[in-house]
Amino acid sequence: MYNLTIIPGDGIGPEVMNAALQVLDCLDIEFSYTEAYAGNGSYKRTGTTIPQETIKQARKADAVLFGAVTTVPGQKSAIITLRKALDLYANIRPVKSYSGVRSLYPDLDLVIIRENTEGLYSGIEEKTDDGATALRVITTKASQRISKFAFEYVKKTERSKVTAVHKANVLKLSDGLFKRIFYEVAEHYPDTEADDKYVDAMAMFLLTKPQEFDCIVTTNLFGDILSDEGAGLVGGLGLAPSANIGYKNGLFEPVHGSGPDIAGKNISNPSAMILSTVMLLRYLHEEEEAYMLENALIEVLKEGKKVTPDLGGNFKTDDMTQEIKRKLKSLK
Ligand code: NAI
Ligand code: MG
Repeated sequence: MYNLTIIPGDGIGPEVMNAALQVLDCLDIEFSYTEAYAGNGSYKRTGTTIPQETIKQARKADAVLFGAVTTVPGQKSAIITLRKALDLYANIRPVKSYSGVRSLYPDLDLVIIRENTEGLYSGIEEKTDDGATALRVITTKASQRISKFAFEYVKKTERSKVTAVHKANVLKLSDGLFKRIFYEVAEHYPDTEADDKYVDAMAMFLLTKPQEFDCIVTTNLFGDILSDEGAGLVGGLGLAPSANIGYKNGLFEPVHGSGPDIAGKNISNPSAMILSTVMLLRYLHEEEEAYMLENALIEVLKEGKKVTPDLGGNFKTDDMTQEIKRKLKSLK
């Protein structure tokens, strides 16, 4: 029996969370759930976007499932605070094309590993006389552990190359450090190819020759931007899952936000959340159930009938979820 902390959040967060809980219910694994609050709804109720109780629950769970939150400018970002509080330093964002989904590249399978605790999201901002500054923090410790994580991930998942993405030509000290540490770590992995690219060039290569990349490791903001670009390559944010991994905790969430433009309409694509749930199952070493759930979704996408509008269908979130459950039961 696993205890999962569930943080549905705002907007489409609770809709896609509901889909994830329904498919988890079809598996041969027992879960107990603790629901916790975060986001703008939490702010309105409790005066904070991320109550201490949520952090406490998340810390002691076997794993955390997070929907999405609305971040109102001026309020503390719940997800960034949670990533930092649990030291979830590695953000894994796969970019994978699925058959049946319109994609610029049909056989794409790469992964972006984003440093999750510092960079431009360090949260250190201040007003100046004529504007404001934000501090972009790059440390040896964080650069080392994220590079090591990327090489270990590549080894474990039988990939062959890691590309560091940075802007060391301009940010000589900070990204210069990131790049140097990356190559130092690479020396311990002689069987894995290591190279690097500037982030602006990488943004273009992702569009022109993404097949040449296998695993990208990069700093916080660059990873955030490139992973949305990656999602765009393979069918959109409705299909992009992610894992946030630390030494003691794992938090799984779709890459997308709270989708205010589609919230409440029951048309959000549950795939990103369900693929995040697949990543959660793998984190718990429930490989067989993870495989089955992923395949149920793959089948539904391949058939392309009972899918949500972003995938060209005219079905509701609930219909697509029912179809995934039906496939899952037939695979068992
Ligand atoms: P968004 O990801 O919510 O939406 C971007 C576009 O993608 C919208 O057109 C939306 O309809 C579409 N989309 C997103 N998820 C979808 C799904 N499952 N199915 C179909 N279409 C989907 O990003 P946006 O609009 O920039 O931000 C909205 C709010 O979410 C903001 O308050 C932002 O701060 C927050 N946000 C929260 C994140 C999180 O909780 N981790 C991540 C990104 C944004
Ligand atoms: Mg983002």
